[in-house]
Amino acid sequence: MIVWITGASSGLGLHTARQLKLAGLTVVAGARSFEGREGEGEEGYRLPLDVKDEASMDRFVERALSLYGPPDALCCCAGVLTLGACEEYTRREFVDVLETNFLGEALMVSRALPLMRKAGRGKIALFTSINGLLGVPYQGAYTASKHAIEGYAECLRMETAPFGISVCVVEPGDHQSGSQKYRRHARTKDPESPYYADYQKAVSQIAHDEENGSDPDILGKRLARALQRKRLPARLIIGKADQHLAVLLHRLLPARLFSRLLSFYYMRHF
Ligand SMILES: NC(=O)c1ccc[n+]([C@@H]2O[C@H](COP(=O)([O-])OP(=O)(O)OC[C@H]3O[C@@H](n4cnc5c(N)ncnc54)[C@H](OP(=O)(O)O)[C@@H]3O)[C@@H](O)[C@H]2O)c1
Repeated sequence: MIVWITGASSGLGLHTARQLKLAGLTVVAGARSFEGREGEGEEGYRLPLDVKDEASMDRFVERALSLYGPPDALCCCAGVLTLGACEEYTRREFVDVLETNFLGEALMVSRALPLMRKAGRGKIALFTSINGLLGVPYQGAYTASKHAIEGYAECLRMETAPFGISVCVVEPGDHQSGSQKYRRHARTKDPESPYYADYQKAVSQIAHDEENGSDPDILGKRLARALQRKRLPARLIIGKADQHLAVLLHRLLPARLFSRLLSFYYMRHF
């Protein structure tokens, strides 16, 4: 089974790629930092890939095809997180997050789909997040990008099912894997920001939750098992019990009450 995976140089993408390879799958691993490091590695065959650059995506596809032929599966893990107050993101920061997290996935799917349709089968795993299901303070741009993938995936699933293609949204809670290199900050980090005090509390809670998060290799193993089944599940929510509880409460509680609980959790006030 041939799997293309994006964002395979760090975090969940790297752990997943390694687990896919350990499970015996043929992995083509893409990331920008593989430039100049092309070749077989523990995460599969490394190829340079920038999901914000269509020419780079085309080169990745061409090279992957020449190496192993069409993919049986595509896993889109590349992502960035820019923390900040909704009010204070610049246009550039919004565009960067949406381009990487949403368009980066959708445009890779557009390239894999003709190959999968021709084969009459295929599996597409799109990394969203628990933030694809609920919002968290100071993750507005990221949450918007992950909600975008959730809606897009629902459309994609219905359109591609007749071609034998299954679509899964992977919704991780906090995991220990994420690199601080990809945790950027909007101007809210400056003490002059009116949000500064709350921002500090929320950011330290977010960092604490990631440091104490789930084991990324378990997620990688679960995705490897799911990819080897006939069809992917529609969603894989992978996280600790309290994060599953948050998703459930978000569905059940009145919106204002849920927001107040989450505000208390992140900022210690309602
Ligand atoms: N870690 C968590 O707790 C967590 C929780 C929920 C969801 N997620 C999701 O899981 C995925 C991985 O996140 P992470 O935090 O585990 O990893 P991470 O350590 O933040 O790594 C991000 C990855 O994305 C790649 N990337 C960023 N911009 C790219 C671009 N323009 N083109 C190609 N690749 C790009 C990076 O590679 P290069 O810089 O080498 O290109 C790197 O491999 C993301 O989609 C994230 O939203 C993570």
